[in-house]
Amino acid sequence: MTTEVGSDIAHAAALLRQGGLVAIPTETVYGLSGNGTDPDAIRRIFEAKGRPLHNPLILHISGVDDLGKYALDVPESARILASHFWPGPLTMLFKKRPGSVPDILNNGLAEVAIRVPRHPMTLALLRMLDFPLAAPSANPFGYISPTTAEHVQRQLAGRIPYVLDGGPCPTGIESTILRFEGERPMVLRSGAIPIEALQAIIEGTDIQANSSPKIVAPGMLASHYSPHTPFILVDDLPAFLAKVQVGKVGIMAFREHAVGFPTHLQAVLSPTGSLEEAAQNLYAAMHHLDTLGLDMIIAERLPENGIGIAINDRLTRAATEKSA
Ligand code: TXA
Ligand code: MG
Repeated sequence: MTTEVGSDIAHAAALLRQGGLVAIPTETVYGLSGNGTDPDAIRRIFEAKGRPLHNPLILHISGVDDLGKYALDVPESARILASHFWPGPLTMLFKKRPGSVPDILNNGLAEVAIRVPRHPMTLALLRMLDFPLAAPSANPFGYISPTTAEHVQRQLAGRIPYVLDGGPCPTGIESTILRFEGERPMVLRSGAIPIEALQAIIEGTDIQANSSPKIVAPGMLASHYSPHTPFILVDDLPAFLAKVQVGKVGIMAFREHAVGFPTHLQAVLSPTGSLEEAAQNLYAAMHHLDTLGLDMIIAERLPENGIGIAINDRLTRAATEKSA
């Protein structure tokens, strides 16, 4: 199968209606989408990604009006959050309406994850379709998430017919995932919407304590989002570099290049110190450094606030040994 890249939304819709897979742009990362009501299309998503079937997929819908088709017992706080953040990078878990989507979507769990993405091309696509789209991030399982059509093509060429090219993803890091304890939102995966922004709307929003990666989700697995090159995360970059004694080292720094190391082997995430800009550049920097044939990539931990929390979460998981 050859993988075409283009911006033809009608073509993407036609492929999806035939049960085909299409990579779609979202504001967070590219998704690998298929008809969320078709068990065969969903199985092909898991196969193309090399993802174990027990890791459930997010259902993408065109608007909050469709929520009731797939979700039961929607908490009032979820409606309030949806009114603030949808379309946008917020995924919420709801009790699944029985029979609404096949069990293979969510491993037969009682809950289904749902979001309304904000990218205009994908919203237009969803509005053309009379079914929702199941979509995980469009990377091979465990590898770096894609934020450009080119990343997708490099990783999934030959496995899907079409990549809908919507340009670089403006946010650059995955959606925040919530589950509700009654009316109380609990963050399962930190992401594009910082906890502070959620707390400003629903007081008492919290981060799920001891959210064991083993029971929840691959986005929460200790080892995930990883480059092939050995990757380490450090708190004090200059101090670490003063001691480093390996061969060809790549550096991913927050604000400025490290002195004494070749700049072409370095990526600076945001010269102005903006965490939003750093999130936008994060995965592209990881992809780039991973193509340079380095012995090691050394990444600097970012300030632990706002979207920096989600960035550090991804860096930590990228740095964890595969066996973890
Ligand atoms: O920004 C995003 O969320 C992107 C774009 C494409 O929408 N999608 C994404 O999907 O990051 P994925 O599959 O890479 O990560 C979704 C996470 C996984 O960790 C998955 O296990 C979890 O959501 N998840 C999905 N359904 C779930 C469920 N019913 N219960 C618990 N976790 C669930
Ligand atoms: Mg993913």
